Amino acid sequence: MTKDWSPRTKSVHSGTRRSQYGEMSEAIFLTQGFVYDSPEQAEARFIESGPDEFIYARYGNPTVRMFEDRIAALEGTEDAFATASGMAAVSGALTSMLKAGDHVVSAKALFGSCLYILEDVLTRFGVEVTFVDGTDLTAWKAAVRDDTKAVFLESVSNPTLEVIDVKGVAEIAHAKGATVVVDNVFATPAFSKAAELGADVIVYSATKHIDGQGRCLGGVICGTREFIRKTAEPYIKHTGGALSPFNAWVMLKGLETLHLRCNAQAESALFIAEALEGHNKLDRTLYPYLNSHPQQAVAKEQMGAGGTVISLDIQGGKDAAFRFLNALDIILISNNLGDSKSIVTHPATTTHQRLSDKKRAELGITDGLVRISIGLEDKADLLADIRTALDAV
Ligand SMILES: Cc1ncc(COP(=O)(O)O)c(C=O)c1O
Repeated sequence: MTKDWSPRTKSVHSGTRRSQYGEMSEAIFLTQGFVYDSPEQAEARFIESGPDEFIYARYGNPTVRMFEDRIAALEGTEDAFATASGMAAVSGALTSMLKAGDHVVSAKALFGSCLYILEDVLTRFGVEVTFVDGTDLTAWKAAVRDDTKAVFLESVSNPTLEVIDVKGVAEIAHAKGATVVVDNVFATPAFSKAAELGADVIVYSATKHIDGQGRCLGGVICGTREFIRKTAEPYIKHTGGALSPFNAWVMLKGLETLHLRCNAQAESALFIAEALEGHNKLDRTLYPYLNSHPQQAVAKEQMGAGGTVISLDIQGGKDAAFRFLNALDIILISNNLGDSKSIVTHPATTTHQRLSDKKRAELGITDGLVRISIGLEDKADLLADIRTALDAV
């Protein structure tokens, strides 16, 4: 039975549906629609489709369903719905469950686009949003009310790597009947324990570690069958954020190597973070598993590893950070993460540029902060690349 398999076995086999040809590799059903034997069959399918019955690729597709079933098995949730991108998953999960007048509590340290959904989009439609310091359980307790419908957080925040106590927040939220929505990108499905810690809805940008090789955009929402099929699916299938079958196939193939990649990348990330800590050109070295990280204990309890991203605060602000980026040889300047190629990002001028100076300062996104997504290259080569670039600062 699938449920008895270990995560690595699930990530290779769960959800596979073979056609009559018994193909080894999952088939790509590159079709927008499906043919019915009769109008009666079409009518019946529109009333209720069985698990192997499809109507239109915006509603569902066999390759996409394989990806949904595999990630749900891995995450430990009843079901999942795949989306066109991580942001389609974040916005779909929230907007499908909220209406005007609802109250949401959110951690304030968020990826720029997540902040846009919470701060600009939801409030425009009459949802009240209270932002809190996500690492402070007393702040969550003070903010969550009897009428709070949902809480939202990134379990590890982008790019300052704050780790939020998912279990603690879930206990506070559940006491008031609120749904816990966790953006789990930095924790990765390989290290996630979000479902067992109490997250009700878990969203991923599959663009990151799930693909892991920089090819496709994708996202996924994991949750109970009731939430996925009755709340998320109707909203997404009618608003158009479905995942393409080709991208779902890439994500399925990505899941097969997810654990190998994430474990190797996290091991290198810890090695590099430990080696750089205390470097005379750095104000801060941020990595959840470092002894100096303020939430190291929470990270160790709720993540199987420290993740694949480190952030460095380089002394000397933007000029110093840009000199560092320009001096790197192996590590590429881009803005994705979780890729097999190491990537460096300067959040203040890219992913978080939209924020005011004041807001960035409040979130600890200094002009010297760089985020490095550690890839699959040799860790000694990466460390040497970073050290040489720091010498150039
Ligand atoms: C925490 C987090 N959530 C969501 C997203 C959005 O994912 P996508 O680019 O696939 O829409 C990102 C992308 O960087 C992210 O870092």
